[in-house]
Amino acid sequence: VSFRLAHFSDVHLGPLPFGAAFRHFATKRLIGAVSWHARRKWNQRPDIAIALRDAVLAEAPDHVVCSGDIVNIAAREEFAPARDFLAGFGAFEQLTFAPGNHDTYVDVPYNKGLSHFEPWMASDLKTPQADPAWPRIRLRRNVALVSLNSAQPQKYNLAQGTLGPQQLDATAKALAVLRERGFCRIVNIHHPPLPGFAPDRKALTDAEELKSVLADVGAELVLHGHNHKTMMHALKTRSGPLAVIGVPSASSSGAGHHEAAAFHMFSINRQNREWQIAMTPHRWHEGRFIKGADFVLPSGAPVRQNQSA
Ligand SMILES: [Fe+2]
Repeated sequence: VSFRLAHFSDVHLGPLPFGAAFRHFATKRLIGAVSWHARRKWNQRPDIAIALRDAVLAEAPDHVVCSGDIVNIAAREEFAPARDFLAGFGAFEQLTFAPGNHDTYVDVPYNKGLSHFEPWMASDLKTPQADPAWPRIRLRRNVALVSLNSAQPQKYNLAQGTLGPQQLDATAKALAVLRERGFCRIVNIHHPPLPGFAPDRKALTDAEELKSVLADVGAELVLHGHNHKTMMHALKTRSGPLAVIGVPSASSSGAGHHEAAAFHMFSINRQNREWQIAMTPHRWHEGRFIKGADFVLPSGAPVRQNQSA
């Protein structure tokens, strides 16, 4: 029986609560609010995010992955509606979340901000050393979801992300252990994980280092958001090609030059001694999500142990 995973990202749930940028004032928030009213609100539509959630639930996936940017300017009033949106996917154990740069748009105290998403970031395994401990690892059947935290408060004109040496090191170790145990390793990160995948001011600053980790220890699939575009790449690793897949914004109407909202379904199977992962895109088109043709992703390492899908 295959394990079916849904992936979406960059909900940028609106509308912005009235006056949100003025309470707990921060210049970056004000600039963000102005930009939201000028641009985003025409393209990022909460009704599309709700339609996406309905369409995902209709697929009855075994698990759902969200790659962050669920809010806009990290106004304190944004977090409770965002939490409620995620809660609409069902049990906490069913959905895994990694934060994006907009979720830490300004430096919000943890208990006023990211703590709202803790139920979807809880780790089944302890990560050595780093505190707060990332990556967060969740084990579901023979699939290991490895969420990284690249979100850090940024200066007003930047949307970069950073993992830092501790998290990179912990990620390398975790991926190696999970490989030995025969899990299908799925990495979840907000920022595109490879160098050159985003302009400098929006990039993961240690993408070069993450690329080395992935090339060395491998994974079976990497999922990301941030660019609001479909991105598909096969990274060469020591154990074969690794699919790196980015998904458009979950609430995009597709207006102007924006790519319309989409989510991706992944069907994970063990074929002989290898993981086989097929992908089916679902794209917002004329008021509903349309299922596209499915295709098999380039496959990675042989399965180490006797895990059966
Ligand atoms: Fe982002």
